[in-house]
Amino acid sequence: MAKAAAKKKPVAKKKTAKKKSGAKYYFTVKDSMKVVQDRSGPKANKRVKFLVDSLVKHIHAFVKEARPAKDEWMYGINYLTRTGHLSTEWRQEFILLSDVLGVSMLVETPNHGKMSGETELTVLGPFHIAHAPQYQNGANICLDGKGKSVYVHGEGTNRKSKTIAGAKLDVWQANEDGFYDVQQKGIQPDMNLRGVFTSDDKRRYSFRSAYPRHCPIPCDGSVGGMLKALDRNSNRPAHLHFMVSASDYEKLVTHIFTSDCQ
Ligand SMILES: [Fe+2]
Repeated sequence: MAKAAAKKKPVAKKKTAKKKSGAKYYFTVKDSMKVVQDRSGPKANKRVKFLVDSLVKHIHAFVKEARPAKDEWMYGINYLTRTGHLSTEWRQEFILLSDVLGVSMLVETPNHGKMSGETELTVLGPFHIAHAPQYQNGANICLDGKGKSVYVHGEGTNRKSKTIAGAKLDVWQANEDGFYDVQQKGIQPDMNLRGVFTSDDKRRYSFRSAYPRHCPIPCDGSVGGMLKALDRNSNRPAHLHFMVSASDYEKLVTHIFTSDCQ
């Protein structure tokens, strides 16, 4: 009797999304992704729709696999909010997050997968600043005289050793205490240990600087909290950053390490 009564009762209408065939998806755990993806209209930007649909697909899969509790999900939202609030003109916590999650390298690597023989690329990192001062070759970018002096020089060539004159080298690094100028406002001079150089007609570039030392990534923010919870080491070996660009060539972001840093 109970079954018969249930059959007669009209079923409440659920919110649905239409399939192209005219059939409808209900919001269930199984069909959640399709319901969201099918909300897009006919004028949707194709590339944006592709990217957002893919994001929805993977984030729904993540929720289904990890099954976060409501307070854990809220923690995640607050975590991203904190990350945004920490990001300013002088600090980019989101880039740092992207770096430590391996996403930055994953975005870069397939884009350069066909290269061979060139200097290896790496991520931009959170400490690059646009419009660093331009210097003549040989100039010293250590503005406070602190640290052991180092002379850096090299040549700009393409893969076939052909000279690239006029290549622009944007360089930046941490000081001997392991901090970038943007991490020590008021302690280091602004634009300390960073500058832009141009390779000469014999393809050479050179500058003086302070010998770099290993340095921790910034650990006083949301990313640092995650590294601590994961028991991850936050130190990076001593290095110099380079962004190299020249007309008719793809821009290269790379870094070099000192040979004596463990
Ligand atoms: Fe760095």
